[in-house]
Amino acid sequence: MAKRRKSTKRPARTSARKKLQAKRGAKRAKPKSQKKTKKAKKPKKTKKRTTARKATKKRKAAARAKRPAARKTPTGDTKVEKAALHFGKLLAKQLARVQRMKREEDWIDFSTLSPIVIGVCGGDGIGPMISRQAERVLEHLLRMEKATGKVEFRTIEGLTIERRAEVGKPIPDDVLAELKKCHVILKGPTTTPRKGDPWPNIESANVAMRKELDLFANVRPVKVPEQGIDWTFYRENTEDVYAVGSEGALVGDDLAVDFKVITRPGSERIIRAAFEYARKNGKRRVTVVTKANVVKTTDGLFLRTAQDIAEEYPEIECDDWYIDIMTAKLVDPKRRTQFQVLVLPNLYGDILTDEAAEFQGGVGTAGAANIGKRYAMFEAIHGSAPRMVQEGRAQYADPCSMIRAGAMLLSHIGYPERARKLEMALDICGQYEKRLVMTGRDTGASGTEFADYVMETLADPGLEECWRRYQR
Ligand code: IPM
Ligand code: MG
Repeated sequence: MAKRRKSTKRPARTSARKKLQAKRGAKRAKPKSQKKTKKAKKPKKTKKRTTARKATKKRKAAARAKRPAARKTPTGDTKVEKAALHFGKLLAKQLARVQRMKREEDWIDFSTLSPIVIGVCGGDGIGPMISRQAERVLEHLLRMEKATGKVEFRTIEGLTIERRAEVGKPIPDDVLAELKKCHVILKGPTTTPRKGDPWPNIESANVAMRKELDLFANVRPVKVPEQGIDWTFYRENTEDVYAVGSEGALVGDDLAVDFKVITRPGSERIIRAAFEYARKNGKRRVTVVTKANVVKTTDGLFLRTAQDIAEEYPEIECDDWYIDIMTAKLVDPKRRTQFQVLVLPNLYGDILTDEAAEFQGGVGTAGAANIGKRYAMFEAIHGSAPRMVQEGRAQYADPCSMIRAGAMLLSHIGYPERARKLEMALDICGQYEKRLVMTGRDTGASGTEFADYVMETLADPGLEECWRRYQR
């Protein structure tokens, strides 16, 4: 009991002491500050206090002298200082990018453009072979526009790994200048060097092009009608760990740090693009995928931005999932048919779209659109398959994904009806009728034969009816 009474009294005594201290402090505060500024006018001080201060100063100086390294840099560790400086520069660059995004112009209007310049960039490995086939199909579908000058095809050479290694850049300057003269680009796969390869460690050409041309929306549709799968992924394409992916910090031998960058304007534009697509295409749900329960700052910003933007689209339901469970739910036959439009940061989008493409027949069957307000680039999502070239099989490479990318290009530049027909022809040739089969070797059709088959199918007046029959 006594103890308890004592403890209840203590706070009262403490607060009284504090009050007294505060009062003394206030009294002392004035002469203290005056001493600093008006030292000459008020020299009168008690001897005792001056001696005490001198002693304190001496003690502090002695302590500082004991830590000479700590005074060299704020942290006392040059490795850390170097990394911090590097980080500071990255932050400044990203803030400048934020400012550019805030000033960015509105979407280009293809209906007013003449000619619309389509650059065809072969890339590496099987790239030139399969992009040539996609170009043939596009030239066929746009033959009128090509003849009247509304559309121009331009071949862009030099985006090869040999050339990139030679100049030590992900995109040689002359190639970049040519790309910037086009409006849209059809791009074959390009080899991304990795450790152990004979190539220098240059950044991926895809990633560089996405950044250089500010292609912020990576749109990847995946459809398997008979399983009720109809997904459109809106993968953010310029931020996340990709933004400064080649500029991480190695602090000494034992610490490696990469940087994940998410910005509000960067999130806004991709999320808005996803909602706009949903609205225009009668989709009822947009699903946001993050790991905001763990990656709280960056993914948290992405998720919050999505929740704010969702309010502008009351007719569309917006739900959010974490990437781990989303990865699992894509294989759940009951749940997966409920997803329609999915919007997600770059790396999660990279991984999830590969998984998703597997339902449709693998990454080799999927095309991707990389869209910005000024430029757009369309590509296959698979690699350059150098082994096929080494083994002399490049002519048997499947051009399906490049032709699908071509269909997305058509739709983007204002020919959605032709794009829809091309999609149907591809479904018939690649998934349903399969009169020609691609095996990747001489046991199957060549890319040229497959492209011819697609064009023949396109010419059939009963194309739509035929496609519908397969849907039933
Ligand atoms: C993709 C690819 C690229 C990426 C690679 C080649 C850098 O995997 O387009 O999905 O990670 O974005
Ligand atoms: Mg990928």
